[in-house]
Amino acid sequence: MTATLFCVPHAGGTAGVFQDLTRHLAGAFQVRPLELPGRGARARERPCADFAEAIRDLARQIREAAPPGGWALLGHSMGGLLAYEVARDHRALGLTRPERLLLSACPGPRWHAAAAEPEAGWGSDRDIAERLVALGGLPREVAVDADAAAYFTGLVRQDARLLTGYRYDPAGEPLGFPLALFLGSADPLTDAGTAAEWQEAAGRPPRVRRIADAGHSLVTERPEEMARMLSEELSGGQVDMGPDANRERYLDLMKKVLTNVVYEDAPLPSEWSPDAVFDPVSRSTGLDWPSQAHTMVGARRLDNVQSCVEQVLRDGVPGDFIETGVWRGGTSIFMRAVLQAWGVTDRTVWAADSFRGMPEVADGAHPGDVALGTHRFNDVMGVSLDTVRRNFRTYGLLDDQVRFLPGWFKDTLPSVPVRDLALIRLDGDLYESTMVALDHLYAKLSPGGFVIVDDYIIDVCRQAVHDFRDRHGITEPLHDIDGVGAYWRRTR
Ligand SMILES: C[S@@+](CC[C@H](N)C(=O)[O-])C[C@H]1O[C@@H](n2cnc3c(N)ncnc32)[C@H](O)[C@@H]1O
Repeated sequence: MTATLFCVPHAGGTAGVFQDLTRHLAGAFQVRPLELPGRGARARERPCADFAEAIRDLARQIREAAPPGGWALLGHSMGGLLAYEVARDHRALGLTRPERLLLSACPGPRWHAAAAEPEAGWGSDRDIAERLVALGGLPREVAVDADAAAYFTGLVRQDARLLTGYRYDPAGEPLGFPLALFLGSADPLTDAGTAAEWQEAAGRPPRVRRIADAGHSLVTERPEEMARMLSEELSGGQVDMGPDANRERYLDLMKKVLTNVVYEDAPLPSEWSPDAVFDPVSRSTGLDWPSQAHTMVGARRLDNVQSCVEQVLRDGVPGDFIETGVWRGGTSIFMRAVLQAWGVTDRTVWAADSFRGMPEVADGAHPGDVALGTHRFNDVMGVSLDTVRRNFRTYGLLDDQVRFLPGWFKDTLPSVPVRDLALIRLDGDLYESTMVALDHLYAKLSPGGFVIVDDYIIDVCRQAVHDFRDRHGITEPLHDIDGVGAYWRRTR
């Protein structure tokens, strides 16, 4: 099986575009995004003067990092053309033979050669930025920022200059190794002719994998599906049905069901989603209040729970897991599911909640908590213990490895009958709810354990975290999860 996957970004892209894909492939393959000079970590280097120099630069990066155990090459959009030319000329470039060439949203070499036009015809920065936005290669929020848009359009210009010197030479040996094409069904740059063009270029029919309803930016729009298909391709086209792959499938399915992207339930109307229309991006980043889903934290924060739990299991960090603020139970259910998936029977998930909503803040409470007045939402926030137990049972995950702590945190947390914790997940939104939990639980957190702060984006919650960290001299770095939540790992 291929151990290392080198990745070449699209025109104007940096190695960072493969971040999500890398995360989804972690553990299965060594993913090594390549960076051309003049951008990202190589921003201070002189950009390549022409296409041939870019090919030589990519080949050098591969030579320096290629393991003896085989490697494959993925290129996205114009990065696919660069990858193809590197793979095609691997002997001349002093490279071992790649095992596979994988092209994402990449029109054929003839298309690229024909599309190259003199710089005068490229239009203004604004035109280029608009084209990038339309292809999903640049978020509109970034495009409207003049400095950011100038940076990205500058990179596109650099790469488009490389293409102006590109000549496609159809002669030559066939590739001699498998080629797979990943095409979005709604990508305006690829069509039925793309596979035919690649067949001609490769000298054999490519394996074509179509992704329904996907546009051009497959690696950033649909990293999870891309990772799954890439894994299949890199495993020799076989679907891996081993225990690790099946564990990952179970946990992925749990995340989809717990966030209810499966049936796309509409959010409850709120100030931040007044239209109450299902939006996959909001759901994945936990920015709506789902009407049915069992968690509101979104898939990315569930990914973070999974990686923290798996890290403590791998490192043998002693202790149970606790969530303070469980609402319908979804995130705690997911913690129990991860234990189930790994066959862990000696750890417990503790679920602490009033099971009737947010506390009514009294006089003398933190002014920020008073201003938020979250108890106004208790018709939504108050979920009974019976309902949460039923939700656990629905997934077959209600057993003696789950313990509930019903009541206000200030009453229940001081006497939690647990000695060691390996993970504390704070999700009580308020200053008071966050601080009480840290005050009573942090001393029990084993070194190597994690604190996850779901509501780091909320001012009062962030304030409580920093007050606590300052008071206890905690300096371990805080890491962002998804722009909303954050976490740190206790080292001592
Ligand atoms: C944002 S919700 C939790 C979301 C949940 N983690 C999920 O996966 O969707 C906040 C929860 O914290 C609980 N809560 C907040 N402060 C509390 C306190 N001081 N004592 C008990 N429960 C509290 C509320 O009842 C509510 O269920």
